[in-house]
Amino acid sequence: MLFQINHLSVDYSLGQKNLPLLQDISMSIDEGEFVALVGESGSGKTMTSLATMHLLPDNINIKGGEILFRDKKISSMTEKEFRSISGKDISMIFQEPMTSLNPLIRVGKQIEESGLVHGMSKKEARSRAMELASQSGLTDTARILASFPHELSGGMKQRIMIASALMNEPQLLIADEPTTALDVSTQEEIITILQKLRHQKKIAMLLITHDFSVVKKLCSRVYIMYKGKIVESASTEEVFKNPKHEYTKALIDAISPMGATYGRK
Ligand SMILES: Nc1ncnc2c1ncn2[C@@H]1O[C@H](COP(=O)(O)OP(=O)(O)OP(=O)(O)O)[C@@H](O)[C@H]1O
Ligand SMILES: [Mg+2]
Repeated sequence: MLFQINHLSVDYSLGQKNLPLLQDISMSIDEGEFVALVGESGSGKTMTSLATMHLLPDNINIKGGEILFRDKKISSMTEKEFRSISGKDISMIFQEPMTSLNPLIRVGKQIEESGLVHGMSKKEARSRAMELASQSGLTDTARILASFPHELSGGMKQRIMIASALMNEPQLLIADEPTTALDVSTQEEIITILQKLRHQKKIAMLLITHDFSVVKKLCSRVYIMYKGKIVESASTEEVFKNPKHEYTKALIDAISPMGATYGRK
């Protein structure tokens, strides 16, 4: 198994009080598998990915369970140990590209940096950044890579984030709502890029979304999260045919009528 979360619980400590944010979360992702984590706003999707990436905010801590990558217990690694995995074996596209890019640094440099920190030469990092930017659907790459984030549109920034996440050929990509903040036609383009990735690379993905039409296009399995718990898990086909949780039904019915009839009578 490539990636596993076993019985993960995460709490928010507020003075003497402990509020549970994630309760007994378990999931697994195989090599090359695209898996969706779906849930309404506030259900704990981002928190699950931040726990994986050692990026939980202050006062929010893992209270129980474990996170494994290729049988290595990453949840108990020191920051130094985890740095050799983060951005290399596992990389993440954050929910808000606008806030995760440094506004003061040209975007090309920011992509290159992900390669440099993991031992790439400058020359190698530069040519790989160019190549990935164009694979991520950017044209006129030299000019775009020399731009600052504020000079680029939301879709362009999202492509920069994708290129940056792919620099070290990760085996697992966590993509937190990679299409939500974008207009419909850019959403479609980003989905196409992720579909290509699925075919071309040996990469697995945890796709976080609340949009079942995106799930249908990209993922073979789904975990449904509700109020900090996993309430349902099945193949995408099965979830569409026979959604169990009321919330899952509502989300499936929320997508276009064409989508809602997929696999259902
Ligand atoms: N910095 C924080 N401090 C305290 N609580 C937080 C913090 N960030 C998130 N939470 C809480 O943790 C819970 C899970 O939030 P999370 O961001 O994981 O939701 P989400 O499923 O990603 O939602 P969305 O779809 O809106 O991105 C929510 O109840 C949220 O209010
Ligand atoms: Mg989120």
